[in-house]
Amino acid sequence: MRRKADYQADPNTIKGAVRCDPEKIDDWVKQLPVGKRAVVYCVKGGSVSQSVTDRLRGEKFDAVFLEGGLKHWIESGQPVEAAHDSIHEADINLLRQAGVSEEDIAHSVKVAEKALEIASRIRRNLDMELVGRGALFHDLGKAKTHEIEHGKLGAEMGAAIGLPPAITAVMEKHVRTGVSCREHGGNDRTPRG
Ligand SMILES: [Fe+2]
Repeated sequence: MRRKADYQADPNTIKGAVRCDPEKIDDWVKQLPVGKRAVVYCVKGGSVSQSVTDRLRGEKFDAVFLEGGLKHWIESGQPVEAAHDSIHEADINLLRQAGVSEEDIAHSVKVAEKALEIASRIRRNLDMELVGRGALFHDLGKAKTHEIEHGKLGAEMGAAIGLPPAITAVMEKHVRTGVSCREHGGNDRTPRG
């Protein structure tokens, strides 16, 4: 249970944990698996995890909170892992160097954040690097054109700068998913893929 800023400052997590924003409990509580115990932790095991635990119990979940939080967990020598699900400045620089506009970069960062957020709520082993980087680079081709060809062009540009085939495949295919112009960040007059 950490807010985005706290999590970005220290992306260490307890292995297998899923990060949830305590302020968005109404959204993620519906996705929690029923019939399993939920162990809730926050930075210090204080009011954040305790109030979330109370709320979950109110919704009939078997919830407990971790005393001392992540801080105590680390201090007592328990293992943590650095989460992969973050957006790297180096990748943003690649977009910039390729000539993607700041507006399109801002869109790509938003898409990547959303993709990572959705993926982190799915309790399966997902390739978070592919989710994050695929989303971040999906519009690389917009450095050349905003027409539908930006998908295919982007994939070629991505291959040229050494991005893995799994990522260039996202770039090439995302324009054929049936997402409307509006949803994709365009407007009524400028069709975008
Ligand atoms: Fe696109």
